[in-house]
Amino acid sequence: MAPAAASLLLLQFFVVVAFGFWFAATPCMSETDLDDGEFSISGGFDSFAYHGDYSPPSPPAPAPPPLPRSVTCEEDLKGVGSLDTVCKLSSSLNFTDHVYVAGSGSLVLLPDVTLSCAASGCFIVVNVSHEIRLGENAVIIAGTVSLAAENVSLSYGSLINTTALAGPPPPETSGTPSGVQGAGGGHGGRGASCLSDNTKLPEDVWGGDAYSWADLQNPWSYGSKGGTTSKEENYGGEGGGRIELNATNSIEFYGTLLGEGGDGGIKGGGGSGGSIRIQAHRMVGDGALSASGGNGFAGGGGGRVSVNVFSRHDDISIFVHGGRSLGCIENSGAAGTYFDAVPRSLTVNNNNMSTNTDTLLMEFPKQPLWTNVYVQNCARASIPLFWSRAQVRGQISLSCKAVMSFGLPHYATSEFELMAEELLMSNSVVKIYGALRMSVKILLMWDSKMLIDGGGDDIVATSSLEASNLIVLKESSAVHSNANLEVHGQGFLNLSGPGNMIEAQRLILSLFFGIYVEPGSVLRGPLEDADDHSMTPRLYCEDRDCPRELIHPPEDCNMNSSLAFTLQVFHLPD
Ligand SMILES: *[C@@H]1O[C@H](CO)[C@@H](O)[C@H](O)[C@H]1NC(C)=O
Ligand SMILES: *[C@@H]1O[C@H](CO)[C@@H](O)[C@H](O)[C@H]1NC(C)=O
Ligand SMILES: *[C@@H]1O[C@H](CO)[C@@H](O)[C@H](O)[C@H]1NC(C)=O
Ligand SMILES: *[C@@H]1O[C@H](CO)[C@@H](O)[C@H](O)[C@H]1NC(C)=O
Ligand SMILES: *[C@@H]1O[C@H](CO)[C@@H](O)[C@H](O)[C@H]1NC(C)=O
Ligand SMILES: *[C@@H]1O[C@H](CO)[C@@H](O)[C@H](O)[C@H]1NC(C)=O
Ligand SMILES: *[C@@H]1O[C@H](CO)[C@@H](O)[C@H](O)[C@H]1NC(C)=O
Ligand SMILES: *[C@@H]1O[C@H](CO)[C@@H](O)[C@H](O)[C@H]1NC(C)=O
Repeated sequence: MAPAAASLLLLQFFVVVAFGFWFAATPCMSETDLDDGEFSISGGFDSFAYHGDYSPPSPPAPAPPPLPRSVTCEEDLKGVGSLDTVCKLSSSLNFTDHVYVAGSGSLVLLPDVTLSCAASGCFIVVNVSHEIRLGENAVIIAGTVSLAAENVSLSYGSLINTTALAGPPPPETSGTPSGVQGAGGGHGGRGASCLSDNTKLPEDVWGGDAYSWADLQNPWSYGSKGGTTSKEENYGGEGGGRIELNATNSIEFYGTLLGEGGDGGIKGGGGSGGSIRIQAHRMVGDGALSASGGNGFAGGGGGRVSVNVFSRHDDISIFVHGGRSLGCIENSGAAGTYFDAVPRSLTVNNNNMSTNTDTLLMEFPKQPLWTNVYVQNCARASIPLFWSRAQVRGQISLSCKAVMSFGLPHYATSEFELMAEELLMSNSVVKIYGALRMSVKILLMWDSKMLIDGGGDDIVATSSLEASNLIVLKESSAVHSNANLEVHGQGFLNLSGPGNMIEAQRLILSLFFGIYVEPGSVLRGPLEDADDHSMTPRLYCEDRDCPRELIHPPEDCNMNSSLAFTLQVFHLPD
C-alpha cells in the first residue's frame, strides 16, 4: 500500500519521461465537453461575507414531551372498547386541538375512518402498548403525527398527511427566505430562487437555507414557509409537517406518509418538506413516503427522512426531491436527505428535477464512518467549507447529472480529502475549489468530469488522486485541473475510447503498473490555453526538500521539473 515502500522495491527500472506530451495515437479530441464557462471564476471580494464558513447552529435539545391526559376511547374518540384493551374507531372525527392517545392496549382505525386536526402544528400523538392499525383508506391529518406501539400497521390506501401543516420551524434556522422574490423555503436542501444575478454563479443564488446538519439522523423539524412575491400578501406555501412511526417490534407499511411542503402557486415560493422518521426492529410492505418540497414560483427544498429498521423485507419508495419552480423551470428546489441508519448510508436524490440549488453536506462523521453516500438524479451536493474530509467505508456514488462540489467558489485556498473504497461517477460532475487529496481503491468515471480549480493561486497544494487498484475513464470523461495534479496508483490507469482526458497545468503520473491510453484519449500538461502567467509550475527541485509529489526516495529528485508533464514508470522485475 505505502507508495514509498513499493517504489523502493520496484526500483529496477525507472524511466522518467518529461515533455509537453501527447500520448494518444490520434490527436483529435473535442474539448466541447469541458465547458470552461461552467467553471469560470468571477472575482469580487464582496462575496466573502456572502459565503463565510458555513456552520449553522445546532438546534436546542427538544423539550421533554408533555404528558397530557389521554383522550378516552368511547367518550372522546366515539369508538368502541378501551385504550387499555382494544379501541376501535368507526367514525371520522375533526379535532381543533392537540390529541394525545395513550393506553396499554391497541388502537384500530377501521377502513375509511379519518382523524383530522388540520391546523398548523396540531399534534395527533398515539402511544399505546400493543398495536396501532390503520385500516384500508383510513387517514390521519395533522401537523405532527407520532405513532408509537409494539406494532404499527398501515393498510393499503391508508394515509398520514402532514403536508403544508407545519408548526413554526426551529428559531435558529433561516429556512424562510426574505424579500419578495417568491423563493422556496429550505430544510434538507435549500429552496430555489428564480432571481438572476449576473454577478454570482447560479449556485450562489438560493432562497430559504438548509437547516442544521445535526438533525440528519433523527429529523424532527417542520419545513419552512416559502417566500412571497407581494409586499401586501404572503403567498408562500406552508412547510411540511412531521411524522414518526416508532414500533418496538414491527411495522407493516402498505400505506403512504406525506410531509411535503405546500404549494405557493405562481405568486409564492414552495414550502420546504418536513421530517419523517421511522424506527422499528422489522418492516414489511411496499409503502411510499415523501418529504418533498412544495411547488411554487420557486420550488421549496426537500425535507429530511431517516429510517432506522434493522430488518427490512420490501423496498419502500422514498421521495425528498425539491419542488418545481414555475418561475424558472430548470432550477427546482434542492433535494432533501434520506438517511438509512442501519447501514449508515446517505442518499440525496432529486428525482431528475434539474436544479442549480445545493443540498449542503457538512461534516462527515469519523467514528463510526458512514458506509455509502449516493448523490443521484440531478441532485447537487455541496460541501461549502474551507476544509473538509469526506470519508466513507464503501462507495461515494454520483449518478444521473449529479454534482458534488467541495469548497467555495472564488476561495480556492483549501484542501479537501475524499476517502472511500470506490468513487463511482456516471454522467456526473465533481468540482473542487482548492486542492483535492483523493484516496480510493477504484475510481470509475463514465461520461463524467472532475474539475479542479486551483484558483490561480500557486499557494494551493498539488491535488493528488490516488486509486490503489484501478482508474478507468470512459465515454468522454475528463479530469481537469488548472493547477498541479498528481495521479498515482499501483494498478491500471485506463482511458478507454475517444474523448477521455486527464489534463493539468502540470501533470504527474506515477507508480502505475500499467497505463492504457486508447486512440482519441489524451493525457496533457500544460493546458492548451495556458498563458505564461497562469499557474506556472513551480520548480520543485529547487526546494531543499524533495517534494512529496515525487513520491520519494530522494534520488528521484533529479528530474527536470520545470516541465509540465511528468511520467514515472516503474517496471516490476519478472
Ligand atoms: C371534517 O372537516 C372536513 C373539512 O372541513 C369535512 O369535509 C368533514 O365532513 C368533517 N368531518 C366530520 C366528521 O365532521
Ligand atoms: C410511550 O409511553 C411510555 C409510557 O407509557 C413511555 O415510556 C414511552 O417513552 C412513550 N414513547 C414515546 C415514543 O413517546
Ligand atoms: C407484533 O407482531 C409480531 C410479529 O409481527 C407478533 O408476533 C406480535 O404478537 C405482535 N404483537 C402485538 C401486540 O400485536
Ligand atoms: C395531503 O394534504 C395536502 C394539503 O392539505 C393536500 O393538498 C393533498 O392532496 C393531500 N394528499 C392526499 C394524498 O390526500
Ligand atoms: C422510539 O421509542 C423509543 C422508546 O419509547 C425511544 O427511545 C426512541 O427514541 C424513539 N424513536 C424515535 C425515532 O422517536
Ligand atoms: C431519472 O433518469 C434516469 C436516467 O436517465 C432514469 O433511469 C430514471 O428512471 C429517472 N427517474 C425518474 C424518477 O424519472
Ligand atoms: C484496461 O485496459 C487494458 C488494455 O486495453 C484492458 O486489457 C483492461 O481490461 C482494461 N481494464 C478495465 C477495467 O477497463
Ligand atoms: C529543463 O528542460 C528545459 C527544456 O529542455 C531546459 O530549458 C531547462 O534548462 C531544464 N532545466 C534544468 C534545471 O535542467
